[in-house]
Amino acid sequence: MSAPESLTDRNLALELVRVTEAAALAASRWMGKGKKNEADGAAVEAMRIAFDTVAINGTVKIGEGEMDEAPMLYIGEKVGAGGPEMDIAVDPLEGTTLTAKGGPNAMAVVALAEAGNFLHAPDIYMEKIAVGGGLPEGVVGLGASVKSNLRELAQAKRCSVSDLVACILDRDRHQELIAHCREAGARIMLISDGDVAGVLATSQPESGVDIYLGSGGAPEGVLAAAALRCIGGQMQGQLLYEDDTQVARAREMGLIDPHQIFNIMDMARGDVMFAATGVTTGAMLKGVRRFGHGAMTHSVVMRSKSGTVRYIEAHHNFSMKTWAAH
Ligand code: FBP
Repeated sequence: MSAPESLTDRNLALELVRVTEAAALAASRWMGKGKKNEADGAAVEAMRIAFDTVAINGTVKIGEGEMDEAPMLYIGEKVGAGGPEMDIAVDPLEGTTLTAKGGPNAMAVVALAEAGNFLHAPDIYMEKIAVGGGLPEGVVGLGASVKSNLRELAQAKRCSVSDLVACILDRDRHQELIAHCREAGARIMLISDGDVAGVLATSQPESGVDIYLGSGGAPEGVLAAAALRCIGGQMQGQLLYEDDTQVARAREMGLIDPHQIFNIMDMARGDVMFAATGVTTGAMLKGVRRFGHGAMTHSVVMRSKSGTVRYIEAHHNFSMKTWAAH
């Protein structure tokens, strides 16, 4: 790669953080106010404005919905100030209810890859399984039973199943999954929302989470896969359809086999960059801390090509900012 290109790449990573910082700052104003839509709207608007300064020709592949249902950051929307053609995956506020309640792990998230590298997933549910890095390839998978996955994982980690912790969204639809985990002897961490953070927890030994299991949003699945590509880990996803219309929509979006089990590389290929800024404090990121005329943000930016994971603590002085969304 030529020197100017790599310089652009490096700048892009930092520009991405500005985008998630803007969204997190805007959303944080709504923390604990019981208004998830307002929090989400503020994050979307701030992120949209921040994208205008990023030197890319971006197309939103994972976004806020279709053009007719989302005024901004809708799937297919072009963003950026001009530059290389890039695919963009966004979740301006991952954890709208968490923010509305002041719960942990809400964050603003963006991933970027060269055009054509993100799975074009409809906004439906996806069955997910994820584990952290350093494990044998294919140690767990959606094709195997919960019991067998936990047994294989315990063997690979040289521990017993009772040492393992499975992170699962606390939903009625997961009752059977939870029962199977308990029967197998594993321990469980139930989370109320935020499965991007849940998947990412598997890659952080200090989180205590060994495996992520269960269904959540497909867009969040692609974003989590993008992050795991950078930080290390394995993940599979399979789209879950409620009716034939959803299957037809998936085919329209280019999926040849709508029931395919996607590996991490099917969801986020190529050189991926990922950035997230905490809105509320969680296992990986501190939330926005506000004070007179300013705030502090905590972000992570990472890249699959280099494997560098960078944490950025930023001090924002609002009296010096030109944009209003903070
Ligand atoms: P929002 O930020 O859109 O509210 O999503 C939160 C979330 O918990 C995601 O992390 C997860 O993928 C999805 O909702 C699960 O959906 P559901 O709440 O319908 O089970």
